[in-house]
Amino acid sequence: MSGEGRDGGGAAKLNAQAKHELLAKMRAANEAAGRNRSERASVAGVLSARAPTKFIDLPEYRRVELQRSASAAIGVSNPFFRHHDRAAGATTEINGRELLNFASYDYLDTNTSPQVASAAREAIERYGLSASASRLVAGERPIHAQLEANLASIYGVEAAVCFVSGYLTNVTTIGCLMGPRDLVIHDEFIHNSALAGIKQSGAARRLFRHNDVKDLEEVLRTVVGDFRRILVVAEGIYSMDGDVVDLPALVDLRSRYGFWLMIDEAHSLGVLGSTGKGSFEHFGIDAADVDIWMGTLSKATSSCGGYVAGSQALIDILKAEAGGFVYSVGLAPVLAAAANESLNILRSEPSRVAKLHHNGSRFLEYAKSAGLNTGRSQGYSVVPVLVGDSLRAVQLSHDLLEDGINVLPIIYPAIPEGTARLRFFMTSRHTDDQLALAVEATARRLKKLETRNFGLASLNIDQMMQFSALMQDVATSK
Ligand SMILES: Cc1ncc(COP(=O)(O)O)c(C=O)c1O
Repeated sequence: MSGEGRDGGGAAKLNAQAKHELLAKMRAANEAAGRNRSERASVAGVLSARAPTKFIDLPEYRRVELQRSASAAIGVSNPFFRHHDRAAGATTEINGRELLNFASYDYLDTNTSPQVASAAREAIERYGLSASASRLVAGERPIHAQLEANLASIYGVEAAVCFVSGYLTNVTTIGCLMGPRDLVIHDEFIHNSALAGIKQSGAARRLFRHNDVKDLEEVLRTVVGDFRRILVVAEGIYSMDGDVVDLPALVDLRSRYGFWLMIDEAHSLGVLGSTGKGSFEHFGIDAADVDIWMGTLSKATSSCGGYVAGSQALIDILKAEAGGFVYSVGLAPVLAAAANESLNILRSEPSRVAKLHHNGSRFLEYAKSAGLNTGRSQGYSVVPVLVGDSLRAVQLSHDLLEDGINVLPIIYPAIPEGTARLRFFMTSRHTDDQLALAVEATARRLKKLETRNFGLASLNIDQMMQFSALMQDVATSK
C-alpha cells in the first residue's frame, strides 16, 4: 500500500522538504568541519612526523619483563596459567597428575553434568555456535528469553537481561545508567569490573570502608554536590574475602537516602540462602528492595556471561541503551542453554546447595582449628587462607601443588601487600576427606615456610633489589 491518500500527497511533500533541509544542514556542517581540519593541518603537522610507538617500549611491557626476571632471580616460578588436561571441578589433572582442585568456581558441580551437557548439545544442533551479531540485528533465539525468564523468576522480579560476560555486565550497566552529573558510592573491596563501569560513566566516585554501613551513612550524610542520581554498589559475597554483605542495613539506608542499590551476586547465586537464590533469600529480604541485581553465568551456572535482573523499565533501558548489549554479539545460544539448565538443576536439587554450605563451613572449621587465618570468611563459596607476604603465598601454592593440591595465590597488586593469601573455592562435590587433606597440607607447608622465615625478608640483597624495583614499578604505574 502506498499510504498516499488525499492528504498523503501533502504530507509526502513536507517530508521531502524536511529531508532536503536536513541534508543541506548536514552538508554545511561537514564542509565547516573540513575547513577547520585543513586550517589545523597547515598549523600543526606534528603527528605526521611521529613514528609509531613500539609495544616493547611501553612501561607496561617493561613491567611484564621485570616480573619475569624478578621471579627468575628469586627462584620462584609463575603459579598462574597452569595447564589443565580436563574439566576442573573438585579435582583436576595437570601435566598428567590427578590433583585436588580449589581453583574453579564450579560451586554446584554442574560443569560436567550430563543434563547440562545435553541441553548445550541440543542448542548447538539447533542454533549453531554463535548468535552471530547483536540480538537487535541477528534476532532472538528462544533460549535467551527462557534464560532471562528463569533468572527473573529466581529473584521474583519483573525481568532480566543477559550479556556476553559478567565483567561487561558491570561495565555497561553502570556506564549506561550513570553519567558525569551522578555519584557512585562503592564498597572498597568491590570488583574491578564495577570500578571500570564507574570510570566509563564519568560519574563522581566515593568509597566506604569494607562492609561498614555506618561509614557509608557518613559518606551519604557528607556528600556535597547536587547529584542527579546516586548509586551504591556492593557484593553479595566478597570475592577475595568470602564474607557476606550487610544487606538488611543497606536496604534500610536505601529507604532513608533514596539511592539505587546494586548488588553483585557473582559469588552468591547458587550459594547463599537455603535454596541458593542468593543474598536476598539468605536475609529473608524482598528482592524488589534492591534496584539492580547483577550476577555472572560463569560460576554456579557453569557457563559464561552475565545478567541484570530488576524492574521491566530497567531491563528495557539496558536493552535499548547499554552499549555492551546493543553493540555486542548476543550470548551464544549454547552458553544460554548451559546456564539455563544449571539454573534448572539449582531449582530441582537444593541438596547441592546444602552440600556446598556443609563443605564451606566444614573447611572453615578445619582451617580454624589448624590455626590458619581465614580472615573474614563466613565459609560459603570462598575461603581465603591469609599468608601476608606475597612471595610466601606464591611458594605455598607451589608446595601444595607438589602435595597434589591446586590452589592459587592472590598477591599484590590485586590486594594490598601484606595481605597475600591462598584462595580456596568450594564445590558441592568436595568430600570431607578432601577438605581435611587440603587443610592439613596447607597448615604443614605454611608452618615450614614460616619456620624458614621464607618470604620477602629472606631474600639476599641482589634479590631484594630486583624485587623492590619490581614493586616500585608496579606501584607507580597503578
Ligand atoms: C564479584 C565479581 N563480579 C564480576 C565478575 C566478572 O565475572 P566474569 O568472570 O564472569 O566475567 C567477577 C569475576 O570473577 C567477580 O568476582
